[in-house]
Amino acid sequence: MTEPAQIKNDTSADLAVCMTGVTFAYDKSALPVIDIESWELPKGRHIFISGASGSGKSTLLNLLTGTLQASSGNIELLGKPFSKLSARRKDAFRAQNIGVVFQQFNLIGYLTVYQNLAVAAYFAKNQTVDVAARATTLLNKLQLPTDVLHKRADLLSVGQQQRVAIARALINEPSLVIVDEPTSALDADARDKFMQLLLEATAHSAVIFVSHDKSLAQYFDEQTDMSCLNRPSGSPV
Ligand SMILES: Nc1ncnc2c1ncn2[C@@H]1O[C@H](COP(=O)(O)OP(=O)(O)OP(=O)(O)O)[C@@H](O)[C@H]1O
Ligand SMILES: [Mg+2]
Repeated sequence: MTEPAQIKNDTSADLAVCMTGVTFAYDKSALPVIDIESWELPKGRHIFISGASGSGKSTLLNLLTGTLQASSGNIELLGKPFSKLSARRKDAFRAQNIGVVFQQFNLIGYLTVYQNLAVAAYFAKNQTVDVAARATTLLNKLQLPTDVLHKRADLLSVGQQQRVAIARALINEPSLVIVDEPTSALDADARDKFMQLLLEATAHSAVIFVSHDKSLAQYFDEQTDMSCLNRPSGSPV
């Protein structure tokens, strides 16, 4: 059953996400696509957010990564006033603290797997991580042979690309991992394997995973639906 998405009594330092009065409209003259009065996610928690196509899942994730700017309200991430940061600081914060797995993976096809991971470390200005060592550890954890590191990303199978997308999201050891429906093209066995690997590899991070496929909710600590989180098209709640 759906558990409450809001958990009170946490101080902002304990929260991965704290949204207050957040609205967003693509068309300023239309009703907002996102209208979230209050939502908190504690650090380290794994939440599944279901929602029909067009319910605003990707829009919400784009607000959380700073790709879109909220029309109103505040978004704090990991205790920092994310929505108030300048575009440059937001980019730096995202690179250093947030791992994103996109629906289409967005790997750079003409680069090797190692180069894809190194680019992510470079943008995070992560000079402390030994990219080669961490990449090898992640590939082992994700059950990929290490010779994959030197293959072009576009020459891998879809299942391998998915696991590389997780490795790239985790290369900087982010505290917050955001995943946008990456399993829609998979059969049931491959999907279950992907979910197990993803959640094992993110055991110490907060995870926000959105999908229309409610059967994936079983893998998560907590679940909610966009219809609970979001006030659809300004309707009263
Ligand atoms: N770039 C855009 N410009 C204008 N409207 C948009 C844009 N992107 C999304 N929308 C609209 O915002 C609403 C929410 O879209 P969003 O992509 O967030 O939904 P979703 O829940 O991720 O759907 P799906 O499951 O199909 O990926 C939809 O009505 C959509 O038409
Ligand atoms: Mg979407």
